[in-house]
Amino acid sequence: MIDKFLNKITIGNSLDILKTIPSECVDMGVTSPPYNKKESNKGWLVNKVIYENFVDKTDEITYQQNQTEVLDELYRVIKPGGSFFYNHKIRWDKGVMSHPMDWLRQTKWLTRQEIIWDRTIAANIRGWRFWQVEERIYWLYKPKDDNNIGNELNSKHALLTSIWRFAPERDNAHPAPFPIELPTRAIYSILDKQKNSVIIDPYMGSGTTAIASKLLGHSYIGIDISTHYKDMFTKRLANITKDKLKFNEEINKHIVKKTFKQRKENRLFTGKYQNNKAAVIQNKTQKTFF
Ligand SMILES: C[S@@+](CC[C@H](N)C(=O)[O-])C[C@H]1O[C@@H](n2cnc3c(N)ncnc32)[C@H](O)[C@@H]1O
Repeated sequence: MIDKFLNKITIGNSLDILKTIPSECVDMGVTSPPYNKKESNKGWLVNKVIYENFVDKTDEITYQQNQTEVLDELYRVIKPGGSFFYNHKIRWDKGVMSHPMDWLRQTKWLTRQEIIWDRTIAANIRGWRFWQVEERIYWLYKPKDDNNIGNELNSKHALLTSIWRFAPERDNAHPAPFPIELPTRAIYSILDKQKNSVIIDPYMGSGTTAIASKLLGHSYIGIDISTHYKDMFTKRLANITKDKLKFNEEINKHIVKKTFKQRKENRLFTGKYQNNKAAVIQNKTQKTFF
């Protein structure tokens, strides 16, 4: 039954399609849904993201109900012990803040971690709030055998923190693509020892999660409402040289060369400082450290 969804993007409404996927046959997932950004409303400081096949504008209650339903369907299709990485952001509508936790708490998922995605973008000249440079990534977890904690991460990921720093993808005609580092980091951190797992993205867009899954030796299930983005993905698949370069850079960050003790002795706590002479000198002169 699952075969008909494997290694393709199925076109349709994600909630409808998810309902037809059998339970507990998927290992993990990553996605970034449309944010209900209502670009025409005053107060948005971001560039317009206009999608090909639908308008990203509905009332907030309907939006959150839909996201809760989608997330609960994902909970059903993912195996116990499985994870889902959900990228979203804090938004304001006429001065009222919507936080992704508002609806994540209504779902069946356990929120295992809130990760800050520092998009490393330049500040604006002026605005109504401090310039929002970050988005959030929620690591959601489906408990297994009444264990809410789950497996430990492998030590090779020990230099990665709860702040993920990479720039948004610019070299892609999709209006809001993932940088390939994002799904790669999520999948590789959880499934580093496995191959041939099944990864789902219910808002697959230009297929970044699919490409990361493929490069890591997994199968994928993609859903998107737009055939145009599916066509973009098909063309992208034919030449993934650029994706591979960034993919390899990301994989190289999942290496720990020194023990924690050695790093502590050198006062080198994070991978970020290891190759940075100025930071090393600065760190060495510090009397106390975190
Ligand atoms: C933020 S984008 C995802 C981009 C993707 N991560 C990538 O790397 O290209 C959201 C996607 O959701 C799709 N979408 C919007 N509403 C949808 C729905 N109801 N069902 C399925 N897909 C939908 C849009 O076409 C868009 O491609």
